[in-house]
Amino acid sequence: MNFEGEKMLPIVAGDELLEAQAHIWNHLFSFVNSMTLKCAVELGIPDAIHHHGPHPMPLSHLVSALQLHSNKTQFIYRLMRLLTHSGFFVAQKVPKNSGKEEEEEEEEEEEEEGYVLTNSSRLLLKHNPCGVTPLLLSMLHPTFMEPWQLLSDWFKSEDRTPFDMAHAMSFWEFMGSKPKHGDIFNSAMASDARLVMSVLLDKHKGFFEGVRSLVDVGGNTGTVGKAIAEAFPQIECTVLDLPQVVGELKGEGNLKYVEGDMFKAIPPADVLVLKWILHDWNDEDCVKILKNCKEAITSNGKKGKVMVIDMVVGNKEEDTLIQGHLLFDMAVMVFVNGKQRDEKELSEAFKEAGFSGYKIFPILGSRSLIEIYP
Ligand SMILES: C[S@@+](CC[C@H](N)C(=O)[O-])C[C@H]1O[C@@H](n2cnc3c(N)ncnc32)[C@H](O)[C@@H]1O
Repeated sequence: MNFEGEKMLPIVAGDELLEAQAHIWNHLFSFVNSMTLKCAVELGIPDAIHHHGPHPMPLSHLVSALQLHSNKTQFIYRLMRLLTHSGFFVAQKVPKNSGKEEEEEEEEEEEEEGYVLTNSSRLLLKHNPCGVTPLLLSMLHPTFMEPWQLLSDWFKSEDRTPFDMAHAMSFWEFMGSKPKHGDIFNSAMASDARLVMSVLLDKHKGFFEGVRSLVDVGGNTGTVGKAIAEAFPQIECTVLDLPQVVGELKGEGNLKYVEGDMFKAIPPADVLVLKWILHDWNDEDCVKILKNCKEAITSNGKKGKVMVIDMVVGNKEEDTLIQGHLLFDMAVMVFVNGKQRDEKELSEAFKEAGFSGYKIFPILGSRSLIEIYP
C-alpha cells in the first residue's frame, strides 16, 4: 500500500515483515516481565511455594495460600504461565485435589499444574540472606520508574539526568531528603552486598590476605565492611559514606563508620573497596575519586591496592550477561549520570588517576573484581 505524500519505504514482506513485528512486540511488552515479577513477589508467590515444601505446589493450593479476591483466582494461572516460561518456576502436572483424603483422590483422575521454585525464584524468598527482592522492589518503585518516562525529553533538555528532571534534585540529594526512599535504596544495596560478600568470602578469601586496614568507600550502611570485619578480625575496617547514610550508625570492635565525602578525602588504608561506586559517576568524577584513592593507599610511603567491584562491559561472552551490562548502563545513566565501562575506558581512568597497573578477575557473575595498583 502506498500513502500519498510519503516516500516509498524499503520493502519488508512476508516472513521478514512478521518477524520484525514480533521482534518489536517482544520489546514493547518487555516491561511486562518486570511488572509480573514484581507482582509475584508482592503477592508472596515464591514464599508460598517454598512453604509448601519439596513437592510441586498445586495451582489450587497456591491460589488459596495467596488469599486473593475471589474474582481474581482464575488469573493466577496466566501470571504463573509467563513466569514459568521465563524460568522463575518449573511447572509439573500433579493430581487435582492432591492432599485430600485418599478415597476422594482415587475418584479424581484429573490433573492440574503444580509449581516448584528455580534457583532464580529462590533468590526472591523473603528470608534468603542473598535475596534480590529489595533491589527489585526499589528499581521498580514508581519513584524510580518515573524518570524512564522522561528519557527522550531528557535528551533534548539541559537536565543532568532523567531522575533530576523527574524529582527536581539529584539522586543522592533525594535519598538524603526522603528517609523512606533512602531506606528502600539502602536495603537494596545491603541485599546485593550480602550476595557478593557471600561469594567473595566463600571462595576468594585470598584477596584479603595480609591486609591490616581497609576502607569501604561509599560503603553505604556497612554490609561489606561488617562481613570483612567479622571474617578477618585482624583487619581494621572503616565504612566511609555520606552523613545522611552513616551519621547515626555506630561501629564496634574492628569496624567503624566515618562520615565524609570521597571527593574531598578518603582515610588512608592498605586496601580500599569501591563496590558499585565508579559506575555512578562520569569519567571526570571517576578520575577525581581514583586520585583520592591513590593518595589514601600510598600515604606514609606504603603501597596498597584498590579493589573495584563493577561490571566490565562486554567482558563476558554469554548474551544474557552482555544484555545485563547494557541494561544496567542505561539505568545508571538515567539515575545518576553514571556509566558502565568497558576495559579500555576503565584502564584510561586508572591511568589518568596515576595508577601503574590493574588486573581484572571475572569472578562475580556479571561483575568483576578489579584490583588497581599504584
Ligand atoms: C550505588 S551505592 C553502593 C553502596 C555500596 N558500596 C554497595 O555496593 O552496596 C553508592 C554509595 O555511594 C555513596 N556516596 C554517594 N556520594 C558519595 C560521596 N560523595 N562520598 C561518599 N559516599 C558517597 C552513597 O550514599 C551510596 O551509599
